[in-house]
Amino acid sequence: MAGSARVDQHREGDVLIVTMVNPPVNTLGRPLRRDLLAALENAEADPTIKAVVVTGRGNFSAGADLAEFDSGEGLAEPTLHLTIAGYLDSMKTPTIAAITGVALGGGLELALACSARIAERDSRLGLPETTLGFMPGAGGTQRLPRAIGIEAALDLIMTGRSVDGSQALSMGLVDAIDSDVIAAAIAMAARLAASASASANANAKPRLRDDAVEEPLAEALVEAARRSAARNPRVNAGVLDALAALSAAVTLPFDKGLAREFELFRSLALQPEARAARYRFLSERAAGRVPTPDESTTPVSRAAVVGAGTMGRGITLALLGAGVVTTIIDTDLERVDSAVAAIAAELERSVSKGRLSGRQRDEQLASLTGVVGLDGAADVDAVIEAVFEDLQVKIDVFAQLDSIARPGTILASNTSSLDLNLIAGATKRPESVVGMHFFSPANIMKLVEVVNGAHTAPATLASTVALAKRMKKIPVVAEVGPGFIGNRIFDQYLRQANSLVLEGLEPSRVDRVLEAWGMAMGPFRVLDVIGNDVPWMARRAAPGAKDPAWAIADAVAERGWFGRKSGIGWYRYAADGSSSPNSEVGSLYSPGRGDRAIDDAEIVERCVLAMVREAADVLEAAIAASSADVDTVMVNGYGFPARHGGPWFFASDLGFDRANRAMVKWARVTSDPFWEPSTFLRSREDRPTP
Ligand code: NAI
Repeated sequence: MAGSARVDQHREGDVLIVTMVNPPVNTLGRPLRRDLLAALENAEADPTIKAVVVTGRGNFSAGADLAEFDSGEGLAEPTLHLTIAGYLDSMKTPTIAAITGVALGGGLELALACSARIAERDSRLGLPETTLGFMPGAGGTQRLPRAIGIEAALDLIMTGRSVDGSQALSMGLVDAIDSDVIAAAIAMAARLAASASASANANAKPRLRDDAVEEPLAEALVEAARRSAARNPRVNAGVLDALAALSAAVTLPFDKGLAREFELFRSLALQPEARAARYRFLSERAAGRVPTPDESTTPVSRAAVVGAGTMGRGITLALLGAGVVTTIIDTDLERVDSAVAAIAAELERSVSKGRLSGRQRDEQLASLTGVVGLDGAADVDAVIEAVFEDLQVKIDVFAQLDSIARPGTILASNTSSLDLNLIAGATKRPESVVGMHFFSPANIMKLVEVVNGAHTAPATLASTVALAKRMKKIPVVAEVGPGFIGNRIFDQYLRQANSLVLEGLEPSRVDRVLEAWGMAMGPFRVLDVIGNDVPWMARRAAPGAKDPAWAIADAVAERGWFGRKSGIGWYRYAADGSSSPNSEVGSLYSPGRGDRAIDDAEIVERCVLAMVREAADVLEAAIAASSADVDTVMVNGYGFPARHGGPWFFASDLGFDRANRAMVKWARVTSDPFWEPSTFLRSREDRPTP
């Protein structure tokens, strides 16, 4: 049997093997769902087929095609939820899921609707929906607790974590593990077919729907989880709805529970928060795609980090976590030693928090060396430089690296503001020089702007992106330009906040309003963390006339109010860690004396649209390749609220026309040339797509 475009079918005796073929991960888009259902229907109608093995080429399935939920196809027939899973339940022919690679989300739900499951030891199984603000909707919340018990089901669904084949076997999620899942499934098929035909019962094959969640404490456990989730403001709607569906699983008959799950799932799928979450997921995945084939990338197994300060330490931790043997370099032994000690202490902290095993700590420590001098970079695949933010210092370092590092070594700079092309120019191999702009703390923050210099070779760029991914980062490619993508856009947000203070608003009010809107931290709190001296010095060094918008920020810095590090900035910091607004800032402007009342909506609109306005220029200048990249940067590096998707997604939701009109208004009201209309923005009308 040849099968259809997305499903391959062949027979082994009286067993039909149905293989999903929708590379790379067999997302269950509508065409695949159609072909799969047709294959199952044909098998059921054929009396010579005694059992069906459902499998996938490469991977079993990574689940739903998220993009379909925005096009409307996601909930179109045949749905995975009711139609396919329901059909599997109704079939007399036993079905066995043979799982290789990933069975995630809808993929695992498909497997759960089969009569039995066999997985490879290193396959990954899980229901990650809630991590995207979403919930399982194809029976996962009903069948999983029946398979593995309510406690384990609560854990898997609420954390979204996945398990490997062995763990899946021990929790009862699969019936067997095997290195040849197809052969094992065929053998199991024969057994199931024999017992089905021997039974008088027409539907004698095992079905999870026929089991009940027979645990005395099931209801209480779900209720306790629900109460604690409802109290936690960081818990998203997906988790809450999944819990409501799990509650249905333990209190209602199977079909009623299934209907409840689908109802919750459908209404959640249509909510803006879930739409933003899907967009973010797809954007983050698209951000790591570079147009160079993987074959030309250099795998990095040894690296050197130059500069053992704040950033160098964090970068080293991220490299060690990725299994890269790392040498950390500084100019004197004391600095090197204190960095190595700090890294060891951080690994120890991870062990005590249960994030790392003792063995992993030992392995990572064994992979770490600290040395004085750049000779430590002689025999590595990549060097990441994180020395002082001083062009001459960096130029000296790169000139030396040029004579020390072997040919082909990736030479990356973590500069946040210097011109990468000038740094590359210090070497005779600018094709190997690239930017890796990490965010602090570099072992935690996910974003890395991978900066493509004027001469960076495509293979260098691709290798750097691959390295960043291995370090579990989200790499976004940026072209060279002041502030790359993120700092350039965020700077306009900070500037707008400063303009509002100049117009008479209290900094703490601006912070409060933007935090209530969802920014991780208000702009003045951010400035106190960065240190008010840092942007002040940069402004003083910049050529051209002074920008009046920064007048108060300059005055704050001139008074030595540098922020947290000096105990006083826009806020005062007490020894016990508490803070309160620095009332003396009020003497630097005219609090409350603006000639018009400014409401909270204006604060949000001006600060957020300032990012949109700057993003338009960033996109027009092709510093960022797509609006999805801009949004990925702002959400993952700058605390932009995830539920709003990113500034560009926010603007598209608001409507670009409305955004443009608002900008015209702020240009008129504030006489600030920044709000000059953007023709690029005016020509936008579509929803952003990753
Ligand atoms: P830091 O001052 O904590 O550390 C710099 C280290 O480099 C010091 O230990 C210094 O001794 C060492 N160093 C200086 N010259 C050296 C040389 N020739 N050879 C070897 N080591 C040398 O600075 P931080 O904050 O870690 O920043 C480092 C770089 O990372 C800068 O380029 C900065 O712009 C960038 N960056 C910093 C961020 C932050 O939040 N701190 C965020 C993103 C980028």
